[in-house]
Amino acid sequence: MNPAVTARAHTNIALVKYWGKADTDLIIPQTSSLSLTLDQFYTDTTVQFDDHLTADEITVNDTRLSVAASQKVHKFLNLVREQTQRTSFARVTSVNHVPTAAGLASSASAFAALAGATSRAAGLDLDRTALSRLARRGSGSATRSIFGGFVEWQAGHDDASSFAIPLEENVDWPIAMVALVLDARRKKVSSRQGMQNSVTTSPYYPAWKDVVAHDLAAIKPAIQARDFTTTGEILEANAMRMHALTLSAQPPYSYFNGDTLAAMQAVQHLRDDGIACYYTLDAGPNVKVFCQVADLPAITAHFAQQFGAQNVIVAHPGPGIQFS
Ligand code: DP6
Repeated sequence: MNPAVTARAHTNIALVKYWGKADTDLIIPQTSSLSLTLDQFYTDTTVQFDDHLTADEITVNDTRLSVAASQKVHKFLNLVREQTQRTSFARVTSVNHVPTAAGLASSASAFAALAGATSRAAGLDLDRTALSRLARRGSGSATRSIFGGFVEWQAGHDDASSFAIPLEENVDWPIAMVALVLDARRKKVSSRQGMQNSVTTSPYYPAWKDVVAHDLAAIKPAIQARDFTTTGEILEANAMRMHALTLSAQPPYSYFNGDTLAAMQAVQHLRDDGIACYYTLDAGPNVKVFCQVADLPAITAHFAQQFGAQNVIVAHPGPGIQFS
């Protein structure tokens, strides 16, 4: 009997974003990126290979996925089967403690947990660098979710050299990320498609690569020095410059909705009132607010009033992959 292995991985929020691939098959990014793993949003995934199965069986949040919907997972399982000369199919059961596809980076925790559970269920004993490389093949942002705290995905140039490294796994800095769930529906343009459009059609793409190099070099010492203002200013500008790549794509598009703009404005107003906080957004309308723990009561009270208390979720730095 093959063992069933369960892994838990947390999502991460990029402070310096990954937006574009140099190799779409191996998921080698155009630039390095830097993230903070969060404690509130995670995926638990159990994998078991079973010689009696006639196809992979994939269940997410208690719903059996159709063949079409499970293609990415199936492809990922094939990768591990190839590496281990296994032929049997697998039963995959995944529970996302994240609003799926709402720009809260569910693919990051999903593929990090899948990489951990699948590799162990197949008998591989990978170290975390190898797990990070494997997770990368499922989704770029998953590369970083193997580690906790502040993490850098070093772009590299091929499968062997593209993986994440932990910069600081246990973060002893009283910071928080307040997630504002403004629209929990699945996004219309996936990050995969969106970033590829930006690489191939935005005239600003070459400038983006310079922006990222500059931001990475500046944010690392700011984090190390616990310089909240500089860290916040860099992450906010970096997010807006990433979104400028969608506005400047052909055809142009945007992940923002009206509430996104209202939330961004509210952050600016809070700042004007002396409450230091900064916003960032991924490939969706939901805003995340970077702040200091001491300011959480004022910030959450403001957004609970604006968007409803149930749509305000406070997250803190979270851990790397765990097995049970
Ligand atoms: C905006 O990792 O979802 O969240 O590699 O195609 O699966 P694929 O894309 P994905 O893109 C994440 C984009 C982002 C920025 C980031 O997390 O760095």
